[in-house]
Amino acid sequence: MTISGKAKLAGVMGWPVGHSRSPRLHNRWLDQYGIDGAYVPLAVAPERAEQAIRALPALGFRGCNVTVPLKEIAYRSVDRLDETARRIGAVNTIVVAEDGALVGGNTDGFGFLENLRAECPEWNGGEGGSQGGGHGPAVVIGAGGAARAVVVALLDAGIPEVRLVNRTRARAEEMAADLARFDFAGRVVVVEWVSRETALDGAGLLVNTTTQGMAGQPALDLDLGALPVSALVNDIVYVPLETPLLAAARARGNPVASGIGMLLHQARPGFRAWFGVEPQVTPDLTRYVLEG
Ligand code: ATR
Repeated sequence: MTISGKAKLAGVMGWPVGHSRSPRLHNRWLDQYGIDGAYVPLAVAPERAEQAIRALPALGFRGCNVTVPLKEIAYRSVDRLDETARRIGAVNTIVVAEDGALVGGNTDGFGFLENLRAECPEWNGGEGGSQGGGHGPAVVIGAGGAARAVVVALLDAGIPEVRLVNRTRARAEEMAADLARFDFAGRVVVVEWVSRETALDGAGLLVNTTTQGMAGQPALDLDLGALPVSALVNDIVYVPLETPLLAAARARGNPVASGIGMLLHQARPGFRAWFGVEPQVTPDLTRYVLEG
């Protein structure tokens, strides 16, 4: 597809940004839907990020995605925030509104939930249903930026209790205290790292949001013995696609969901806002996006 002088513009801003899979994904969709548009990598140093974000409307951009380490700067640089971004405290999707205002959203939690629903339709945690697997508290390992999007999504979806386990307890406590401001009080329970296996008892979902298990990193040190076999296990790490945690869960019979779908699904709302088409996440996308 040729890019004309009228092409609709969007991109991903990060530092560095060369590792981002988003240009491959969005340009594939642009091609597939025959849209005259371009989605470009925007390598912007943190000290210039606010300036770059404020310049998006002047450059004719319809918006952009924001990735590490600029999500908090984007949160502070936009004109308006949607409720999800406010709760998460970070922005990953900026849309230039009709009036030229920069509107910040966060679709990471949406991507996380959509991935679970797509990979494991019988998991209906949070939907208030009483049939099927996946019920009981959710266990989230890690308390970084990714964990926060995951926890907010689970609470918003109606999960009654999230057990938050982090190596550095203070970070988990801080997140729980912060989220208590949004009517989530008492629903985030912090569990000590040394007794992390106790959090698995009766759980319906286990999510790893740490970097443990990523290629080149040691596996997450977690004995799954106490986890019900009906619990859904998800790793937001997607290189490798099958992390040691997912392999161990699969071997004992748990349903599993890999992390790549979170990346694919979180991209949908931005694409729809900038380019006017609801893109589909199809099985071939995973291979295509990871190959690049
Ligand atoms: P992100 O924003 O992508 O979530 P981050 O803010 O750097 O990244 O968070 C990384 C998470 O992985 C943290 O929860 C971190 O735990 P600490 O808060 O104790 O640092 C967790 N993590 C990193 N290395 C770890 C390890 N060796 N064992 C356990 N947790 C680890």
